[in-house]
Amino acid sequence: MPPQVQDVLVAEALRRSYGERVVVDGVSLSIAPGATYGLLGPNGAGKTTTISMVCGLLAADAGTVRVLGEPMSTGRCAAKRHLGLVPQELALYPDLSARENLEFFGRLQGLDASTTRRRAGEVLELVGLADRAGERIDAYSGGMKRRCNIAAALLHEPELLILDEPTVGVDPQSRNSILSGIAELQREGLAVLYTTHYMEEAERLCDRIGIMDEGRMIAEGSTSELVEMVAAHPIVRLRADGELDVLATRLAEVTGVERVIPADGRLDVVVTQPGTVLAAVLEAAETAPVALTGIEVDSPDLEDVFLHLTGKALRD
Ligand SMILES: Nc1ncnc2c1ncn2[C@@H]1O[C@H](COP(=O)(O)OP(=O)(O)OP(=O)(O)O)[C@@H](O)[C@H]1O
Ligand SMILES: [Mg+2]
Repeated sequence: MPPQVQDVLVAEALRRSYGERVVVDGVSLSIAPGATYGLLGPNGAGKTTTISMVCGLLAADAGTVRVLGEPMSTGRCAAKRHLGLVPQELALYPDLSARENLEFFGRLQGLDASTTRRRAGEVLELVGLADRAGERIDAYSGGMKRRCNIAAALLHEPELLILDEPTVGVDPQSRNSILSGIAELQREGLAVLYTTHYMEEAERLCDRIGIMDEGRMIAEGSTSELVEMVAAHPIVRLRADGELDVLATRLAEVTGVERVIPADGRLDVVVTQPGTVLAAVLEAAETAPVALTGIEVDSPDLEDVFLHLTGKALRD
């Protein structure tokens, strides 16, 4: 999609190397006002590096970033005022309370004392921490700390919120609170850039999804567009006890089998046409040192799209 004038974020052809290794290689993405863009990719794909360039924390070797038309740079610039970043690593003072942290960050961002106090109250409410705001951060759970980190990114009322895997390692209650807080911000018209390993979060929150692997954007579209891309390749899910790796090797040699993906206690077999391939798949299973406990033919979901495109599971 060509970048549009009114887009909140336009990043074009971003590139970054560390030494000889190119870790982000020609990544472009744009986000319309009020839209949420999901950046998906396995560990090391280049998501955080991309986000760091988008935020002006890291210099790009090539490419450009504009936020609401303003050019991003690593120095002081107007573009930075339009965005709030929730980094992958927590950045809070453990011996201050949540409210004290937010008031400190607010003043640091140049807000006056009364605006800081008002906004701190609003964002604490939004992330569901208003009733615990006086407690020290080091007494918070991991999920509560993360919610406080999100609150800090919202103090200056940015038009674009960038979250780097905000729900990793958080308790279910915090996760729900984070997701519903983001949904509320979406309703208020905030543009969001969201990286995650969780497909269900991407499906739930994002209008557009970009799949990154080894520094490149390998596919982009809405969830249904991405699923469409691999819809012609049904998946036979085999559950079995025994030596699944032996079965996987044999299946990979069957004509009509495109890919065999080991999953938890199961093999997902991407086939061209289940009608003709199924018999050969079953024969391979019968002659392998395994006991088949279940078989189903499935149409792919977003998780399968990812596996199909990258050959990797989204989580290690
Ligand atoms: N400061 C650095 N010096 C050298 N290599 C780096 C540095 N930062 C990142 N890399 C490398 O760049 C690649 C991309 O890393 P990045 O953190 O962007 O991946 P990611 O997609 O965010 O992964 P994760 O899901 O694990 O957070 C990795 O191979 C990483 O080792
Ligand atoms: Mg990362």
